[in-house]
Amino acid sequence: MQPREPARSSHRDPADPADRAEPARAPAGPAGPAARPGEPAVGLADPDAAPTGPDAARARMVNELRQLGHLLSPAVLAAFATVPRHVFVPEIGPAAAYRDEALVIKCGPDGLPVSSSSQPAMMAIMLDQLGLQPGHRVLEIGTGSGYNAAVMSEVVGPAGEVVTIDIDAQLVARARASLLAAGADTVTVYRADGGYGDPGGAPFDRIIVTAGAWDIAPAWLDQLVPGGRLVLPLSIRGVQLSVALEQLGRGWLSTSACRCGFVRMLGAFAGPEEVVRLDEPRSLAFQMSDGSPVDIDALASALAGPASDEAVPAVLASIAELADLDLWLTMMAGRVNRLTVLAAPGDWLDPAAPPPFGALVSDGTDAYRLGICMLMPAGFGDDGRGAGRAAGNGRGAAAAAGWSGAAAFRHLGPGGPALAARLATLSERWAQLGRPGSRELEVAVWRAGAVPGRPPADWLVVKRPSVTIAAGWPVAAR
Ligand SMILES: C[S@@+](CC[C@H](N)C(=O)[O-])C[C@H]1O[C@@H](n2cnc3c(N)ncnc32)[C@H](O)[C@@H]1O
Repeated sequence: MQPREPARSSHRDPADPADRAEPARAPAGPAGPAARPGEPAVGLADPDAAPTGPDAARARMVNELRQLGHLLSPAVLAAFATVPRHVFVPEIGPAAAYRDEALVIKCGPDGLPVSSSSQPAMMAIMLDQLGLQPGHRVLEIGTGSGYNAAVMSEVVGPAGEVVTIDIDAQLVARARASLLAAGADTVTVYRADGGYGDPGGAPFDRIIVTAGAWDIAPAWLDQLVPGGRLVLPLSIRGVQLSVALEQLGRGWLSTSACRCGFVRMLGAFAGPEEVVRLDEPRSLAFQMSDGSPVDIDALASALAGPASDEAVPAVLASIAELADLDLWLTMMAGRVNRLTVLAAPGDWLDPAAPPPFGALVSDGTDAYRLGICMLMPAGFGDDGRGAGRAAGNGRGAAAAAGWSGAAAFRHLGPGGPALAARLATLSERWAQLGRPGSRELEVAVWRAGAVPGRPPADWLVVKRPSVTIAAGWPVAAR
């Protein structure tokens, strides 16, 4: 569904600061996007935008974080006020470094981002979820720039300890140098596959994963102290949720969840999703949730064909609520897969539009029944340039220009009308149940083979190699 992965991007949703993610879309360039949607590539930022020095820029960023409406702890805010982010992203000027945006620091051979300095707002939300205290020992999987490790080091103080691991040797060397330059020289950084945690340093009070996880590696659960907490961006049916988990009996239960969008984890616990690229006329890079099979020709033909709109039977209060409905539909729509757009070269998608960038796909392997449906603000993008572009522009324009709250399911392909009708019915139920969103979502996790009883009716249950995950809303299970 189209309304963002409210945070798989550093595009944050101005309507709902508590529900956002890291940039997922790459800015389009002549050779196609080089960054993940919403994720501005380092070097593209305009250093003229803020004429002040690093201290003033940092103070401004902290003020922005304070105004997000999310209750950030004074310790986390103080750490953001202290740690010099510009030292961790030396490619851009200090002014640009303090924008509340994710900054891509490395792309893979395919031009898609493999590492970034996360959006500060998203970092703050995750650190809040983590509940870091002075004296805590914390393990981070995904060092990236090293900035998050430095902020955490500031929060845990001299009595605590931060260990951070990255799978990429080049990034480890870079982070070491930056941490040293920033004065965060007590942070331990090393290269390893973080899926195995840090057996030598365990147990930890807290573990935070900052790469998109598909499985929950056993080491992360094993290497926590009793009462410890794990925070990770967990992919469930293609939607990333930053989930805080604590052990309860034989399972692990979420204490909070928030949509987000991180570059995917590599290594032994990587997910099966592959990047698929379509040729013109609907040139784009995407992945299907859980690596589900899809008939590429049928999908391309549906995307290039005519699109129709079905009205969403509820007026929405904000783009954030659109994102909540998008999450609800993704979790509740039964036999569907989610298509996540990673990059859309040219002007087909507006790179400035906030996430989520996705669609639900039904009967993806059946050329005669395949349906695609995107949720978007109604009436936008009717300029004849295609459904995808309309969807992107729709969200951006809606966010910017006082949107009326009317939304539509834009559907394509032979199965599009039936899928849109099904989603419309589900939307009515969502409205009747009080419009539950990511804040009300509950996630339960059990080690593979240790699932007690049956999860509540209507919850989505997914099996991963190491764990079984159930996600849903208590209100929907009644
Ligand atoms: C979004 S970046 C992390 C941002 C970082 N915390 C910061 O403050 O800049 C994700 C990082 O995870 C790393 N990564 C991916 N798979 C990994 C794995 N299996 N083990 C350790 N690091 C991994 C990537 O190399 C990348 O640097």
